[in-house]
Amino acid sequence: LEAMKITIKEDESLPEARTIKLRALQDNLGTRVRVHGWIHRLRAQKGLVFIVLRDGTGFLQCLLSGDLANAYQTSTLTLESTVTLKGIVEKLPAGKQAPGGVELKVDYYEIIGLAPAGDDCFSNKIQEGADPSLLLDQRHLAIRGETLSAVLKVRASLLQAIRRVYDEEGVIEVTPPCMVQTQVEGGSTLFKLQYYGEEAYLTQSSQLYLETALPALGDVYCIQESFRAEKSHTRRHLSEYTHIEAELAFLTFEDLLSHIERVITKTVKYVVNDPVAGPLVKQLNPGFAAPELPFKRMEYVEALKWLNDHSIPNEEGQPFKFGDDIAEAAERKMTDTIGVPILLTRFPLEIKSFYMKRCADDPRVTESVDVLMPTVGEITGGSMRIDSLNELLEGFEREKLDKSAYYWFIDQRKYGTCPHGGYGLGTERILAWLCDRFTVKDCSLYPRFTGRCKP
Ligand code: 4AD
Repeated sequence: LEAMKITIKEDESLPEARTIKLRALQDNLGTRVRVHGWIHRLRAQKGLVFIVLRDGTGFLQCLLSGDLANAYQTSTLTLESTVTLKGIVEKLPAGKQAPGGVELKVDYYEIIGLAPAGDDCFSNKIQEGADPSLLLDQRHLAIRGETLSAVLKVRASLLQAIRRVYDEEGVIEVTPPCMVQTQVEGGSTLFKLQYYGEEAYLTQSSQLYLETALPALGDVYCIQESFRAEKSHTRRHLSEYTHIEAELAFLTFEDLLSHIERVITKTVKYVVNDPVAGPLVKQLNPGFAAPELPFKRMEYVEALKWLNDHSIPNEEGQPFKFGDDIAEAAERKMTDTIGVPILLTRFPLEIKSFYMKRCADDPRVTESVDVLMPTVGEITGGSMRIDSLNELLEGFEREKLDKSAYYWFIDQRKYGTCPHGGYGLGTERILAWLCDRFTVKDCSLYPRFTGRCKP
């Protein structure tokens, strides 16, 4: 009853509050500020109420005392309610802990939106340790959690960092289409769709389009969604993923390999040195050590030998022989044991895509590369491309692809061909490695995989 009588009024004699985001707290010590956000944590103790406020850019402990703590409106507060608070940002005395080592001494606050209490309360929706598929149904709420949001922030930093690296490398960004009528990585993973009465697909890779941009724009890259109707339910396969792809002209296979390892190491360096993302990587992956140049190089045939020497069998449970695909489990075991990034090169023609160039010294194998990282395995696949028209046409024959649909791609070999190569990097895979996540599903805002297309 006493509480019902207390209403909260702002003291007009106080200095005007400066509106800030929580990322700017340290620049506003001792200042009266106005902050908006969501109640991330809430605790009442000895006549005081502690709110940990979240606004996406940071966290802030806010202290309500006196009438503010005892007011009726304060007794109605719940997790995830939105509030606007005003007060002075103060450094916490030694020995007390809160995010950023600061606290807001609140002198006035308003409720913007009360979240439900009771059965429908936030903590009943998102329960730690709940069935992953229930959490995925509630993904729109789960992303508010500290771990998922941290990964998403590292993701933003990674995309920013790699754009910066491409800029430094003189590679420019293009945006190829997602709706296409050609395949790049085999018919079995194509998502088909009706396009005004014609058959079309969701793109598996923007590679062929990037190749066409070389004569127009020079070296190019894109950050674009790729779609794969994967049948495999593995922890590193999504049906839609963010594909970072680059294509470079007039270079050798060795140039391509050193470009790839340079882009990866520089990007990672920028992320771990980023004031926001760096500490988050430390928090998510305390043991993370940024990779050093040059990466270990290993040929496919050497990998077969390594696998056989370590009694790791192929998919049929037999020793590996030339021409076998190195499937996910074997690949990861090898990479985890070796424990450093590997550039795995020179795969046999038969297990790779139609566009890959053969090695001059051994036509059974191609100038191809996978980048393997401990805990995840393959994060990048790339190659030099066939630059001879006739050889490319043979590739189409071999793969039984309808040449007419690819006329625009084939024209690249007619109107000024050149040695060129490129690669695709899976954003969610590099993040799973960087942030030590068990699955790429944890590295996507709304992951899409077999049976999951919502929310
Ligand atoms: O090895 P992939 O299939 O290569 C290509 O698509 C080439 N056309 C790329 C190019 O040269 N421009 O895919 C490249 C990378 C893989 O190394 C992996 O990181 C990621 O894309 N990837 C996937 N990530 C998540 N879910 C899937 N289903 C993925 N498939 C490939």
